[in-house]
Amino acid sequence: MQIRRVLSPAAANDEDIAMIDRRRLLAALAAAPFASSTVLAQSPSGGALRTVRIPGADVEVPAIGIGTARRYDDPQGEDALAPLRATLARFVELGGTVIDTAPSYGRAEQVIGQLVADLGVRDKLFLATKVGASSPADGAAQIERSFRNLRTDRIDLIAVHNLNDVTNQLASLRDLKAKGRIRVLGITTSFDRQYEAFEGVMKREALDTIQIDYAIDNRNAAARILPLAQDKGVAVMINLPFGRDRLFSATRGKPLPDWASEIGATSWAQVFLKYVLSHPCRPIAIPGMAQARYVDDNLGAARGPLPDAAMRKRMEQFIDAL
Ligand SMILES: NC(=O)c1ccc[n+]([C@@H]2O[C@H](COP(=O)([O-])OP(=O)(O)OC[C@H]3O[C@@H](n4cnc5c(N)ncnc54)[C@H](OP(=O)(O)O)[C@@H]3O)[C@@H](O)[C@H]2O)c1
Repeated sequence: MQIRRVLSPAAANDEDIAMIDRRRLLAALAAAPFASSTVLAQSPSGGALRTVRIPGADVEVPAIGIGTARRYDDPQGEDALAPLRATLARFVELGGTVIDTAPSYGRAEQVIGQLVADLGVRDKLFLATKVGASSPADGAAQIERSFRNLRTDRIDLIAVHNLNDVTNQLASLRDLKAKGRIRVLGITTSFDRQYEAFEGVMKREALDTIQIDYAIDNRNAAARILPLAQDKGVAVMINLPFGRDRLFSATRGKPLPDWASEIGATSWAQVFLKYVLSHPCRPIAIPGMAQARYVDDNLGAARGPLPDAAMRKRMEQFIDAL
């Protein structure tokens, strides 16, 4: 069943969304379980969301998720929580499912657990977190805290954060997967200096997902790691798709180039995300989003055309020349 639109397009800002009739939203969300993700991905604001298959979980998820580093780490009081709740509500309303968090992001796991419970949307989401520990015992304790923080008895994805104690932690994650407590496992990094080791782990371990930094002005992952993931059929999540503020700073005050309309991009964020999504490994990008208007903007990148190889080159040349 399709999620019913409960907001007008004009209501798509944090303040308005925070004030919507919560009962109507919850009723609409409850009508559409996560299992029907392709239907969920039919956006009320036009065009289906591009989806990506996660082979290990045999599930399709929309190609844009929410990253929760920094902006979800310590909201103080309802004034700080309300925009985050509105962001999540809007995300689910538009068919989004993937949320990426980590035990090292302050209280972000707890905050997500609380907001998901407030909205009653656990079944609509693909919750991804990480384990960053130096021993199997520490990792196991951290993972049990993640289950409690996220208020769930099944976490969709746990990835070894920045390759910490990677062999031991992957063994533990494999055990959790066999028990059905997690659906898929993987590894993450955002550091060039880890790429060689990261590639080694990809070659020797059976992984469902990888997560790595990649952006139109940060393309090193495309040299070897993204093609390797594609060869191995591993799902790819992209962190830092904007390089935090780096790409917005480089383009601030600049009009969109003429070619943006050829790829259906109406904002710089959509230009940057469409570049990422058009990599042949069919990645999922997880931009940090703590405002409902970012959700509308960023999910827009998963609709409509994507650049082809020639356009990707043109886009790179444009950004490189800034
Ligand atoms: N090793 C790892 O595992 C690793 C490392 C890094 C990140 N990550 C994950 O990847 C996620 C993404 O990274 P990130 O959040 O650090 O950086 P990012 O996604 O490159 O940038 C996020 C920032 O971009 C701005 N933004 C988002 N959407 C926008 C829009 N439509 N228009 C204008 N500005 C927009 C926001 O800035 P403002 O909030 O300032 O407005 C937001 O905080 C993290 O949240 C985390 O989940 C994982």
